Amino acid sequence: MKYINKNFYIEGVKASKLANKFHTPLYCYSYKKLKENIYNFKNNFRSLNPIICFAVKANSNLTLLKEIGKFGLGADVVSMGELTQVLKAGIKPKKIVFSGVGKTSEELSFAIDKKILLINTESKNEVLELERLAKNKKRIVNLGIRLNPNTDAKTLSKISTGKKEDKFGVSEKVFLELVKYAEKSKYINLKCLSVHIGSQILNHRPYEKMLKVVDRIIKKSNYKFDFIDLGGGMGIPYYKKSKTLNYKKYVFAIKKILKNYKSKIIFEPGRSIIGNTGVLISKVIYVKSSSKKSFIILDAAMNDLMRPALYGAEHEIIPEKKTNQFAGKTYEFVGPICESTDKFMTSKKFQKLSEKDLVIISDVGAYGMSLSSNYNIRLKPPEILVKGYKTNIIKKRQKLKDLI
Ligand code: LLP
Repeated sequence: MKYINKNFYIEGVKASKLANKFHTPLYCYSYKKLKENIYNFKNNFRSLNPIICFAVKANSNLTLLKEIGKFGLGADVVSMGELTQVLKAGIKPKKIVFSGVGKTSEELSFAIDKKILLINTESKNEVLELERLAKNKKRIVNLGIRLNPNTDAKTLSKISTGKKEDKFGVSEKVFLELVKYAEKSKYINLKCLSVHIGSQILNHRPYEKMLKVVDRIIKKSNYKFDFIDLGGGMGIPYYKKSKTLNYKKYVFAIKKILKNYKSKIIFEPGRSIIGNTGVLISKVIYVKSSSKKSFIILDAAMNDLMRPALYGAEHEIIPEKKTNQFAGKTYEFVGPICESTDKFMTSKKFQKLSEKDLVIISDVGAYGMSLSSNYNIRLKPPEILVKGYKTNIIKKRQKLKDLI
């Protein structure tokens, strides 16, 4: 994705052409970038030969899941809907893990029937419910237990999951009790310790800390885990001077603990696979100026891309067509929704924009479309996959009749 002669291109296709053809707001993904990310991820962890399960919550588009599956990735799902979707995408049950803090009996039962790789449980009562269901079905289920390692991921507070006050996983004490319980159960086969300390992590140190806790607790449990599921969380640079995660140090820390066990590593990456593959193309509806600043009112809003409103997250906005004319005042990029948080970013240095100009909102492949909503009865935008010079509608724009 880059500028050619001052116009923004997604692979071989001009963004303005896509906007004319499919209208805005519009999600566009680059196949090449997706492929590149998967190769990079595999390369970074090659020496561990892990099982890689794409975290479907980051992006659940059926075509993208099919493409991801073709590269050999499995899936990490958190609901019956996601599980159904990945099976439809052709991902094999033996490559699927089911995570989540509150899986219902119906969801657990569905997962048992589908014979997936692992059900990662997050409480004592969930383990008991799973055992009850397995007994009724006369089945033995493969189970993981998610440990809460009480580790600060040092990321945005709203996407941190590994501290003891967070709702996720079980404490060391409960974990050890559950290992003992599982050892005696006829219907559950404990296979995995799982952890996930948060998302958008750019510093390897929280991972190191978490691994030390994992190591200590596995030793204490004196149990042979077939798998250690380290979750996802690998962050991506959302702006130019951002830090990047040091994968070498993360791998080094993992290898250090693996010296003691023969467990296979599972990863559940979402953002690092799909985040930078997507952009949201949007059109300026109005420019509303006051003496100090101008509001650039876009046709994309917080319902299309929730991350800025929900977490104060930043997504760079760039012009579709570069000019040399600067605005000379502050621009505040906002959506049309009647909420003050419907705001994408503020820029003191942007080129002059006029009504009907197009802008590109960057790095929206992860938790963009998947977090979108119909707030204000706004229609969800379409999704387009670009492969070289080819474009493919992978999700149609919603129609009012779908909603009303
Ligand atoms: N595994 C588990 C158990 C998770 O809870 C998550 C994300 C992942 C894997 C994938 O994490 P990733 O590799 O994508 O960081 N909506 C927020 C992010 C929430 C992440 C929730 N869990 C955002 O837009 O930043």
